[in-house]
Amino acid sequence: MFQQLQLRGLTLPGRILRAATFENMAEPDGKPGKGHAALYVRLALGGAGTIITGFAYTSLQGRAAQRFQAGIDAEDKVEAWKRVIGRVKQANPETKIILQMAHTGRQTISAVTGRPVVGAGPVRCTYFLSTVRTLTEPEAAAIVREFGRAVARAARAGFDAVQIHAAHGYLIHQFLSPHTNRRKDRYGDDPLLFLKEVLTELVRELDRHSVRLQCEGGNFQLKAFRMDLEQLLRQLLHNAIEASENREHPQVLVRLRDQGEHLQVEVRDNGTGIKEEIRERIFEPFFTTKPVGRGLGLGLSIASQIARLHKGSLVLDSSSSEGSCFVLRLPRSLEAE
Ligand SMILES: Cc1cc2nc3c(=O)[nH]c(=O)nc-3n(C[C@H](O)[C@H](O)[C@H](O)COP(=O)(O)O)c2cc1C
Repeated sequence: MFQQLQLRGLTLPGRILRAATFENMAEPDGKPGKGHAALYVRLALGGAGTIITGFAYTSLQGRAAQRFQAGIDAEDKVEAWKRVIGRVKQANPETKIILQMAHTGRQTISAVTGRPVVGAGPVRCTYFLSTVRTLTEPEAAAIVREFGRAVARAARAGFDAVQIHAAHGYLIHQFLSPHTNRRKDRYGDDPLLFLKEVLTELVRELDRHSVRLQCEGGNFQLKAFRMDLEQLLRQLLHNAIEASENREHPQVLVRLRDQGEHLQVEVRDNGTGIKEEIRERIFEPFFTTKPVGRGLGLGLSIASQIARLHKGSLVLDSSSSEGSCFVLRLPRSLEAE
């Protein structure tokens, strides 16, 4: 129950997951609110290693009829989700948080979305009773792109993963089901096509957020989120600069090494160094040597988590005679042409 679970690049801290459950707690404009943060913090502290949010809409057209659904349809939602995720990670840095994304298709009403109700086909939903306009192929393609933009926002907000809602009669399910998909086009020929296009778009969008790091003699395409890599490198540089700032000649040396299977980033400083007796603990969450109020003790713990997420590692090189040297190793996932 409490053993880690590896899902490709994502390590879940245990087997207790909070399944996606609609909270009905968002602000009227779809931003997640204080209720979301309070609920997720309780779940994180209560032992749910992974939290999957209730379904969030990827566009206004795909918003649910319930009034207080949260969205990921626009930039202003990114900061709001960031705050919620920050509260969760502060409560328990190990907790993983996954955004469930959906487009409701025919299962909504125009009075809420302000737009015509659309679906894979014209069949009305017997509960919502809205007249449904069948999506044209270009309109379906536009919704696929909206899923792509939504996943980019989710990544920027700091979600660990996304989950695609392909059930419960929502739009993707409407393409999957012969009851609603009566199309004569390629989406009718292959009921899986719309879902496959959404998944392909998500992968493509996430690839767009990868970064190429280069060092002499090697050329690496790192499948790392820009945000992750930036946070990692910034943390290491910040620590090194801070550690050496009281020296007469503060020095920070950054070296990139091509190690075959790995790209190695060494960040060395000439500061006071890290005492032997605390070396074991520096990657623990909330461990800090700074005075109260000056540091949360999360920087190195989050940095090493990010490194592990990308199947790499972050260690302290204890052979260093002066100051400290952190060694970050990231796998070569794809050699650039
Ligand atoms: C109030 C409520 C809201 C739910 N919201 C969602 C949702 O947003 N997305 C989703 O995929 N499932 C949703 N579900 C379904 C749950 O995730 C879960 O699959 C269902 O409750 C069955 O869980 P169980 O098999 O553990 O009993 C919701 C269920 C309830 C009771």
